[in-house]
Amino acid sequence: MRKNIVAGNWKLNKTLQEGVALAKELKTALTGKNVNCDVIICSPFIHLTAIHEIVEGSEMKVGAQNCADKDSGAYTGEVSAAMVASTGAQYVILGHSERRAYYGETNAILKEKVKRALENHLIPIFCIGEVLEERETGKQNKVVKTQINESLFDLSAEDFGKIVLAYEPVWAIGTGKTATSAQAQEMHAFIRQIVADKYGTKTANDTSILYGGSANAGNAKELFSNPDVDGGLIGGASLKVDTFLPIIEAF
Ligand code: PGA
Repeated sequence: MRKNIVAGNWKLNKTLQEGVALAKELKTALTGKNVNCDVIICSPFIHLTAIHEIVEGSEMKVGAQNCADKDSGAYTGEVSAAMVASTGAQYVILGHSERRAYYGETNAILKEKVKRALENHLIPIFCIGEVLEERETGKQNKVVKTQINESLFDLSAEDFGKIVLAYEPVWAIGTGKTATSAQAQEMHAFIRQIVADKYGTKTANDTSILYGGSANAGNAKELFSNPDVDGGLIGGASLKVDTFLPIIEAF
């Protein structure tokens, strides 16, 4: 089912104590508010259990920012989807451009990660998006289509229906340079169309497609007002209640 979602991606920020404090502060700020979207905190692995305990029973949900492409074994430093799920987390960001660029995650590796996540009943928030040069040379649609095709399109319609997509133009991430509302809508509509071509209109219409890349209190309302933008994946602005709450309230 298509949902409005605002997810915070904390990236490599917050000690355990700082993260716990932020989750508590956000929970308090949301108490009694009529929120029109699902709110997800995607924290570093070590915070997941503690934050899940804080938000349990509230509207908020917890997600990881990555998981291993393997189930178990001699893979030092990795964290499996089963381990993530055992903390109470329900979501996992996969395919973030920083993972692709700095940690060599390919479409083929991500395909495995998506499978591990789904096998363990985690909902992948699957990120796609082009770099600046690709946008400037008009290749953005082709790039995004290939990312989706190579990592997701061998899933059954039922499994694909569990996935949340996040369009994050790499040139807009952490740069203060947001895609215009029209650019976001155009790409989201394109993504929905390729999902419709593969899995049918119903699945496409049920898929939540989030926008990410310098979304903030000032631009969230306009971005979210687009018919194909179902929410946001928020980096920098998710690190403080003062900057995150207005984005949640933009719905
Ligand atoms: P940003 O990050 O909001 O800081 O641009 C978004 C993301 O990378 O998910």
